[in-house]
Amino acid sequence: MPDSEFPATEWWQTGVIYQIYPRSFQDTNGDGIGDLPGITSRLDYLVSLGIDAIWISPFYPSPMADFGYDVSDYTNVDPLFGTLADFDALLAAAHNRGLRVILDFVPNHTSDQHPWFLQSKSSRDQRANPKRNWYLWHDAAQPGDDWQPAKNRYPNNWMSQFGGHAWEWDQPTEQFYLHSFLKEQPDLNWRNPQVRAAIYMAMRFWLDRGVDGFRMDVLWLLIKDEFFRNNPPNPQDLASTLPVFTADQPETHKIVAEMRSVLDSYGDRVLIGEIYLPLPELVRYYGQSDDSTPNPQSPTPKTPQLRGANLPFNFHLIQSQWYAEAIAHIIRTYESLLPAGAWPNYVLGNHDQSRLATRIGPQQARAAAMLLLTLRGTPTLYYGDELGMQDIPIAPDQVRDPAEKNEPGKGKGRDPERSPMLWLDTPNAGFTSAEVTPWLPLQHDWQTENATAQSTRPRSILTLYRKLLQLRRQHDTLHSGGIADVAAEGNILRFRRVALPNGHSTDFQLLFNLGNDIATTQCAPGTVVLTTILDGEGSHVDGAITIEAGEGLLIALDSNEGILE
Ligand code: NOJ
Repeated sequence: MPDSEFPATEWWQTGVIYQIYPRSFQDTNGDGIGDLPGITSRLDYLVSLGIDAIWISPFYPSPMADFGYDVSDYTNVDPLFGTLADFDALLAAAHNRGLRVILDFVPNHTSDQHPWFLQSKSSRDQRANPKRNWYLWHDAAQPGDDWQPAKNRYPNNWMSQFGGHAWEWDQPTEQFYLHSFLKEQPDLNWRNPQVRAAIYMAMRFWLDRGVDGFRMDVLWLLIKDEFFRNNPPNPQDLASTLPVFTADQPETHKIVAEMRSVLDSYGDRVLIGEIYLPLPELVRYYGQSDDSTPNPQSPTPKTPQLRGANLPFNFHLIQSQWYAEAIAHIIRTYESLLPAGAWPNYVLGNHDQSRLATRIGPQQARAAAMLLLTLRGTPTLYYGDELGMQDIPIAPDQVRDPAEKNEPGKGKGRDPERSPMLWLDTPNAGFTSAEVTPWLPLQHDWQTENATAQSTRPRSILTLYRKLLQLRRQHDTLHSGGIADVAAEGNILRFRRVALPNGHSTDFQLLFNLGNDIATTQCAPGTVVLTTILDGEGSHVDGAITIEAGEGLLIALDSNEGILE
């Protein structure tokens, strides 16, 4: 595996990223919705947790049709979340504590209230309206025998990710515009160099203020087929289509490289891409190498500089079935596909996915925490997963997410995984003041499962996360070393983390029982450093070892074996 050749040197390689959904983290102005000063007030908690960087979901001015993923001004803060001065204060306070700050940037679409779109829809005459071509406008299809009105004659069969057609008819200018998400989120035309320049300028606005990088929303969807060809039917499900002409278009890679150049002109900033693709396609988002390929004559190989995203998000653990062979297969395949110089990463939860502890159960969520924080590569945690937060039930009158409102009952709603962070055992769990109704309900067991209560319990999942994060920071094998011998034996998943060749780090054996029954396996001689049930640390093992259902073990091996070829 091409890992120890290219050791981690950047903060975004050795560090751990923590995603904050700002509506749900901490409210300070009593409107039941989290805000930027709220995040600032909780930075000490994040430092004590042991993470290195925060990624904040969008807080830009927005009509909030998709809770901030519909941006109406890329260079400001929505009053709901505070002011630019609040942001600057947050950034300074984070930097003072050694925390990096990554912003969520939404380049695929704007709000339909963005001045760019308002101008774009004002006239179809491109000479009079230089912004017409900033979005994807299209005439209605030719009438068929049934003489449907133009507004029913969609240009092609492209569908919105939130249900229904991806085209909205604009009666005044008698054309459709494309929206891959809500109709309130028109897609920008990324083939237009003016659009690219405008977005790069907005990125620079934040980079100039000192942000440490961006998580780019739906990076793999930016460019669409220039001939607007119909997507072919999905042979597995004839009611749907395959996104052949709407996703992962070859031209996207050029855009990613341009974004990367913007970031690189500022130094050690990070470009993260939200990308849901199979592994072979995903790893292409690391980009092409520049000319600095390793010189075989040189004693220290030079790390090739890839020109794409630093971290194309790897969501495969979220999408996988939770059993040992499936997970071992993902790790091995991913490691073998990574281009030279590419740094791996893993994600186990985000604001679009059912909560980890709900997907795999509270016991396995502890094993998952150890897995995420001991794999080779940058981990991204979702707020509240460190408390074992679960999806909350949402009654019909509590639905907020447009994805649920558009297609009720289809399980697309994301409110369950966005419930307020649990801080204290006071009413509203310290998220907002007692007399306020939070924008989403709280998890029912907030009185016992909040961060303060869990901090006092030596075996809580929060205590486990803290210990894992501390160990990862302490041991360079864990944050920068290699990985070897990834295998599944029945329900046991195992791999070894391999010390750096610096002579003073340790090899670790990782063992996880992902099944529902106690299991036994073999282990080379070593000392148990941590178990996910937080019991049995310090014992020496050699040979047969028994692992509880849902337990993970981190074992410091007595001797280092290196990577076996
Ligand atoms: C992906 C984001 O994570 C999701 O929350 C949002 O709805 C869509 N992109 C559209 O921006």
